[in-house]
Amino acid sequence: MTQIAPSILSADFMNLQRDVQNLEAAGADLLHIDIMDGMFVPNMSFGAQVVSGIRPLTQLGLDVHLMVEQPERYIEQFITAGSDLIMIHAEATEHLYRGLQMIKDAGVKAGVVINPGTPVSYIESVLPLVDQVLVMTVNPGFGGQKFIPAMLTKVAELAAYREAHADADFTIEVDGGVNDQTIAACAKAGADVFVAGSYTFAGDLATRIETLKKAANEAR
Ligand code: DX5
Ligand code: ZN
Repeated sequence: MTQIAPSILSADFMNLQRDVQNLEAAGADLLHIDIMDGMFVPNMSFGAQVVSGIRPLTQLGLDVHLMVEQPERYIEQFITAGSDLIMIHAEATEHLYRGLQMIKDAGVKAGVVINPGTPVSYIESVLPLVDQVLVMTVNPGFGGQKFIPAMLTKVAELAAYREAHADADFTIEVDGGVNDQTIAACAKAGADVFVAGSYTFAGDLATRIETLKKAANEAR
């Protein structure tokens, strides 16, 4: 099933409540929330308080992407803040399995993320544990970057893995440079959840979300 997850990184932060509510009214399926620590990625965004602030404003699931060194230090905060799904980068921790277990033990969905330079084989042993795999289709840290087409082979590899393993039950998400031109190839490769920040906010929200959904569904 196609799910469009606008990234609030491209929202107007002085009008965040308005933008969150507009996204829900415009047909977004999830809200993608980018947490950047200025260490794992060369940029900072915001912390768990913003997730707590958004929680009562919307019924949408909160898809929280931690671009943070040693994310296990903050998992509890993001659980308490009301995240529905918490994703940690395979490259950011020595204890990936433990981090994912911490999230699952709290009854929250857990996801693993891989950077463009990280192969699928690196996360193979955690695939039976996760609810979502996020394939970065840009180098993380900034919105508005250009989609890297070579990442599609990883999406296809994950889709084939899921097909071949009865114990694999995860959605495949793509993040970075997803727009009306790039989404079809992602859907064809097997992605289910599509993060779109700059594209969604560069026009009428409902029209853009609808355009993305239609392109993804047609490509399947
Ligand atoms: C990048 C973030 C993305 C970002 C996507 O580090 O993880 O979620 O907001 O932005 P666009 O859709 O503009 O590439
Ligand atoms: Zn993201």
